[in-house]
Amino acid sequence: MTLLKNLQKNIYKICIELGAPKNFQPNIQKYFKKKKFDYQINGIIKLSKILNINTYTLAKKVSEKMNKNFFYQSIQITDTGFINFTIKNAWICLKINNMFNKKKINNNKPSKKIIIVDYSSPNIAKEMHVGHLRSTVLGDVTTNILKFLGYHVIQINHIGDCGAQIGMLLAYIKKYSIKNFQNVEKLYQKSQKKIQSNKKFYKISQYCTLQLQNKNPKYIKIWKKLREITIKKNQKIYQKLKIKLKIQNIVGESFYHPLIPNMLTDLKKKKIIFKKNGNLVSIIPTLKNRVGKKMGVILQKKDGSYLYATTDIACLKYRSQILKANKIIYYTDVRQTQHFKNIQNIAKRAGYLSSFLHIEHHTFGMILSKNNTPFKTREGHTIKLKHLITEAIKKTKKILQKRNQNWSVQNIDKTAEKIGIGALKYFELSKNRKKNYVFDWKQMLTLTGNTSLYIQYAYTRILSILKKNKNIKWNKNHEITINNIYEKNISIKLLQFFDIILDIKKHGTPHLLCNYLFKLSEIFSNFYENCSIISENDINIKISRIKLIILTAKIIKTGLKLLGISTVKIM
Ligand code: ARG
Repeated sequence: MTLLKNLQKNIYKICIELGAPKNFQPNIQKYFKKKKFDYQINGIIKLSKILNINTYTLAKKVSEKMNKNFFYQSIQITDTGFINFTIKNAWICLKINNMFNKKKINNNKPSKKIIIVDYSSPNIAKEMHVGHLRSTVLGDVTTNILKFLGYHVIQINHIGDCGAQIGMLLAYIKKYSIKNFQNVEKLYQKSQKKIQSNKKFYKISQYCTLQLQNKNPKYIKIWKKLREITIKKNQKIYQKLKIKLKIQNIVGESFYHPLIPNMLTDLKKKKIIFKKNGNLVSIIPTLKNRVGKKMGVILQKKDGSYLYATTDIACLKYRSQILKANKIIYYTDVRQTQHFKNIQNIAKRAGYLSSFLHIEHHTFGMILSKNNTPFKTREGHTIKLKHLITEAIKKTKKILQKRNQNWSVQNIDKTAEKIGIGALKYFELSKNRKKNYVFDWKQMLTLTGNTSLYIQYAYTRILSILKKNKNIKWNKNHEITINNIYEKNISIKLLQFFDIILDIKKHGTPHLLCNYLFKLSEIFSNFYENCSIISENDINIKISRIKLIILTAKIIKTGLKLLGISTVKIM
């Protein structure tokens, strides 16, 4: 049981003894002010209202019971009825020794719950750019965390492999009889220019989209090649970024096309879609235009072609009915919020969603330049992800070369890749996903702030201390003991690891893990500055401290691994 869960269970029991209803939640939070206490109970005020007793009197009763307990010391009741407390060292010792003695950090039992994480999902025909960093990295970390917690996770790369942009490309390729598509990006740009200035070309590209949808073999042949080329390029990026999406995880939009005709017939029968101006439309009751008129979503255009929403509804139905998902998490930027509301609304009315399916859309903001405009090249072009990766490694190499002039070229290269890519991912992950953030190489690659470098460095320091003490042996009687505030702080922080993981699962906020690892590294530094290890004469204290830093290294390594970031031995 995690530290917080333990406390919650205990305080809950006390409150039940005092007459609280069964569904009462004590609401315990970490104490943030001045570090005098460890935790605060916030639920007493609410309970006093339920029980109709004076808040202070109730808080007093709770604290009296707490006093008799093995867990707590320094209990303080505030005038407003909050209870602040610290945890007894003896209890921390018990828990931290348990944690140390466990063979595996993670003993979460496998869960039968199926969670689909739909992430990265770029559109083919265009190379991945900076905008794809967020969905790709956030989705991958969520996958890691859910797997760590024992869930059955299905990762899906829902690539956009049909639709208007492909039709446009096909039209261009056909018109100019292009044989070599390797540079898909260039072709895309050219065809986009053409479509903007040429109405006839627009019509042709619409026709091509339809041909593709109707599986015209001539079009399918080119489409397959285009798809393959882009997928290959994307897979290389995933590999470089250590993203766990494999070719097998690709289930793109085109996969659902064969399912659409029957679905549309069914939706017609259920009166969820109807013909309007030649299109097949579904009205979304909650969707209104500027003058308050109800709005709809087109599921099939006049010419017979399907849209993004059409494939996504078929996909939702498939994931619920065939894959039997308990949960689906989508990663796209915030601009798709309405789209996901719409498809859920239609699928729900059609009865396509099982009662146990829970859907979450984890949105994110934009990546900006220093002047708060979208992050682009100086010439105003989008920045390719490939270039960002190369740049991150190049910049890290420079830092490493300066720090370690005697390192071999291979060592610099290998380490720069781990640190550079880690830094790029960490910078992204350490930001609250809902907000925009400003891209800044300097901030990303410093050793002194909240960066992966800082955490990786703390890890290398621990390894070096352990190396110097590698001859120390211990037996069962050598336990971790807490003799001062530094040892206590690091122990509590270590015990909080699992609470953070559960928090992230609940709120979809990987930045909490970054903050946690950064804080843990800071606390470790503080601990090491104040608690000697190498020169400590008392062997019991020495071993206790060594055990504490072994555990710290383990948690840092596990945490970084969940973030998809490697550790290094020296840097
Ligand atoms: N391809 C889409 C885009 O680039 C993202 C797809 C997200 N997943 C989904 N099931 N709609 O914006």
